[in-house]
Amino acid sequence: MPVAEDLEAPVRERTLNPLTDGLGSSARAHEHRLLSAARPALPFLNWLGMFAKPLIKVPGLGWITADPLTARAVLTDPDHFTLLSEGGVGHLWAQILGDWVYDLFDGPGHHDLRTRSRELFTEKTSAAFVERAWGGRIEDARRAFEAGEDVDLADLSRILVGQMVVTLLGMPAEDSDEAYREIFRTGEELAATALGTTADTVLPPEKIAAAKVIVEKLTGHIDAVFPTASGDTIIGRCRDLGLTLQETKGLSTLLMVAGTETAASAMARTAALLFDTGEQHALIAKPSLLENAVREALRVTSPAPIIGRSVLADLTIGRHTLRAGERIVVLTWTANNLAGAYRVDRDYIPQNRQLWFGAGRHLCLGGPLARAELSMIVQLLVGDGQPFRVVSRRYGKGVLIPAYESLVVRKVTSPVSR
Ligand code: HEM
Repeated sequence: MPVAEDLEAPVRERTLNPLTDGLGSSARAHEHRLLSAARPALPFLNWLGMFAKPLIKVPGLGWITADPLTARAVLTDPDHFTLLSEGGVGHLWAQILGDWVYDLFDGPGHHDLRTRSRELFTEKTSAAFVERAWGGRIEDARRAFEAGEDVDLADLSRILVGQMVVTLLGMPAEDSDEAYREIFRTGEELAATALGTTADTVLPPEKIAAAKVIVEKLTGHIDAVFPTASGDTIIGRCRDLGLTLQETKGLSTLLMVAGTETAASAMARTAALLFDTGEQHALIAKPSLLENAVREALRVTSPAPIIGRSVLADLTIGRHTLRAGERIVVLTWTANNLAGAYRVDRDYIPQNRQLWFGAGRHLCLGGPLARAELSMIVQLLVGDGQPFRVVSRRYGKGVLIPAYESLVVRKVTSPVSR
């Protein structure tokens, strides 16, 4: 039996404790170190979350909850919670993009925008986007990987996500790995604006100015292409769906921020999980579990580990009264991981649904795209029926979204290539 399976076996029998099991199994230990490297406070926050049933108040941070049902109740209650006031991402982005964000992110304009963009990422359009954006590059990677070469999946994920952005937004960019890495870095830079805002979302003027320059770099081309962009780019589709130029630019910025680091994080971490837990063997034995494998990877990695909201109006949850103006942090990583370790044969968990994509009116718009991207990566890894192993790994330090900086994988049956 492969070593990775031996490591995972005892974990299946126990109830998960994110703190102690984090140190007991290979997969948990790596996820734990990955979260610490990204933000040292994260594992502590996640551990605190175990006591947040349904919620507790943490001095300096506000309320926290890791209870899936409470989390959903918060995210689906726009009368009592908002992301627009200080403490939410809407407030953060309004300072950079302008006051129209207040309407488009959470106001009446948001409902309108979501209604019109509902068809933007369906299972079908997403699979087509992935095929079109990645087809050639994935084939190159597959050939190299199956021939026994090492592939740095973290680097490849950043390249692929950069390529996806260029394709979706119809950006003028050179067709090279380095150009796509650069696009990814720019998106990362923009998202980094949110770093350090868990407790306070008021940005200093210099951060606002720097972020505006990046937004212009990423979306400046849209003014010119908007009238003529092809219907198979997001810009063309937004226009065809009746979105205005401003809405299209705003949504494009959101896509960059919400859908780049999260997706890249999930891709490499999925590879690590498949190897560390030994679950790749179960998937190879039963390829029809692909959809499960992807859903489980999203649950266990929960690449957006926390979601912040502000309390709009007083309300009572359990025996606690939350006051208008207070903050609440939904610990999605903890809420999702309390359900157990990564198992490709685990059924859908009704209580958690897809909490890794949030819930309610801000439920991730790109969920189907993220799933299509992950499916492609899992197929790249084990689609030929042969297992792979992780040769080396490095965790990303001080990053907003916990992610591998490097994760080198190699086919087990292939000759050693270096
Ligand atoms: C594994 C990958 C991803 C994860 C874990 C993820 C997670 C999330 C979460 C948790 C939210 C809700 C945030 C909140 O309520 O404050 C969200 C919103 C959003 N996501 Fe994703 N996301 C992923 C990939 C993507 C992709 C690929 C795209 C598109 C290219 C995307 C576009 C969006 C947008 C536009 C929103 C804002 C929706 C709104 O406010 O109405 N995401 N995502």
